[in-house]
Amino acid sequence: MYFSFETIPAFAWVFIATFVIYLIKKPRISKNEPPMVPYKIPIIGHTLDYLFNTQNFLAECGRQYGDPFNIYVYGQVNTIAGNEIAHEVYRTDTFSKASATQDSFPLHRVLKSLERPETTEKIIKTIRQGISAKLPLYTERIQKQFMISINKKIGDCSNPKLIITANDNFSNMIARPVADVLVGQEISKNEDVVKAFADFTKDFTSILAIPPILSFIHPKVHTQVITLPLRFGWNPIGKHMITLKENLKPVLEKRLKDKEILGDKYEPPLDIIEYLLNDPEYGTKVITDDYLNKICEFLFIIVVVSILTTSRHITCALYDFAGRPELWDDIYEEQVRIDKECNGELSSQHINKMVKLDSFLRESLRTFDSSTPIIPHRCMESYTFKNGMTIPKGRIVKTNLMDIHYNTTAYGPEPRSFLPYYGLENKFPASRTDKNYFIFGAGKHACPGRFFAVNEIKIGMHKLILNYHIKTPSGKIEKKIHSGPLASPPVAGLIFENRKKH
Ligand code: HEM
Ligand SMILES: *[C@@H]1O[C@H](CO)[C@@H](O)[C@H](O)[C@H]1NC(C)=O
Ligand SMILES: *[C@@H]1O[C@H](CO)[C@@H](O)[C@H](O)[C@H]1NC(C)=O
Repeated sequence: MYFSFETIPAFAWVFIATFVIYLIKKPRISKNEPPMVPYKIPIIGHTLDYLFNTQNFLAECGRQYGDPFNIYVYGQVNTIAGNEIAHEVYRTDTFSKASATQDSFPLHRVLKSLERPETTEKIIKTIRQGISAKLPLYTERIQKQFMISINKKIGDCSNPKLIITANDNFSNMIARPVADVLVGQEISKNEDVVKAFADFTKDFTSILAIPPILSFIHPKVHTQVITLPLRFGWNPIGKHMITLKENLKPVLEKRLKDKEILGDKYEPPLDIIEYLLNDPEYGTKVITDDYLNKICEFLFIIVVVSILTTSRHITCALYDFAGRPELWDDIYEEQVRIDKECNGELSSQHINKMVKLDSFLRESLRTFDSSTPIIPHRCMESYTFKNGMTIPKGRIVKTNLMDIHYNTTAYGPEPRSFLPYYGLENKFPASRTDKNYFIFGAGKHACPGRFFAVNEIKIGMHKLILNYHIKTPSGKIEKKIHSGPLASPPVAGLIFENRKKH
């Protein structure tokens, strides 16, 4: 019988290719592994359930297979850690977020210094010493920057005004105080710098828009392909680097000169660039192009971790507030009282007195409703859990946040309902991590920026609630947008209307 390759129809090729991938990719699970949830379609595995029915799927698996269990997504076995196991994962050094990030969020390709683990350590130390420890000194400046943003973005609403949040989720509003803290009062006046900060992460994540289809072959293939344009010289964030460098140069030069002339009389401005100038490793005597690159990279790493997260959560908190008229008077009353007490000039004591607002914010963060955090953990060497189950080196472990945040022991029989004063009644401030509150992670790697983030959101909401009535267009609670396991703020817009001053 005559036989040629051309006579094998296309569908047969697809079948053969699929079968070959299947043979290569067939997940091998060793003996003591967590139970593998059965699936029907080879290769695809649980991918569709995980993407389109995440919460029900994970909850159902948890009910049937306990904690932890394995699923098969994008050609990889993932271990899903629920309430019990997640606590162990966050406390154990064998699990690394940094390693997992490099596949799913390859920022190190454009910010090369991230390839060195010391950079992350330095970032964390800088945030702790230069921001968290100095928060009271920054309060007045953060407040001023918020007022500038509010006047620009929302302004006079004698007639109710619909503010569209979908395009930026108030990232510009958050970029301004962050810029003030990072690069100081002078540079942060520059609108281009504020815009560079606000847009940086969005522009970077534009390369992540490609779904990880190629991960079916191997996650590294996906990472290689999405970063291909970068290697050909396309750099979505190059323009932001240039903007920041141009603005930093004269200011840093002037500071060095002043320091030389004034000696001990030099009064160091309070901001992160000054902190770095005085650092043994990040300090300098001359401002070279290399130095500017190094500092810009460092600053933009802080921008990436701080602005998108904070702006998305202030947006959600405003929607949560706008959709619940029953809370308006109570929370407004607290803000008016504090505003009178401080004469409109908040200090950190006044922020600490916003206990209802803090509790409300904690609840908004708890019910944010992402099924798993954006950044998973990777198991760095074969690990045996306390329950005796073992997972191999390289395994990705995802936290089932629902199992932690909607825990019935902690939050009662209706854990998904909004409990605005839970934090107040139980003395859990919004910035404190807790065994049933993982929005900032847990353990020694918990988010070091959480005090700053909560501070910013409280200042911003305080000012907004004082000045405006805030409603949703429908008058009801707006739904969040879910894409796969991740949640983002609603997109309906918010209606602002001036409050009468009293
Ligand atoms: C509402 C806003 C924020 C949320 C929800 C958030 C959430 C998180 C989470 C979940 C982690 C991982 C923690 C873990 O795995 O245990 C993290 C890490 C981190 N966050 Fe935040 N964050 C926010 C704001 C910020 C801000 C404003 C900064 C900087 C000023 C920041 C800097 C960092 C850094 C540097 C890490 C890495 C810590 C480490 O690996 O040890 N975050 N954040
Ligand atoms: C704001 O949130 C919406 C979804 O709610 C999302 O589509 C959009 O990309 C977000 N914008 C930014 C800048 O993060
Ligand atoms: C809720 O969380 C606590 C602490 O992690 C845990 O001991 C308890 O078993 C959890 N309750 C449920 C119903 O999962």
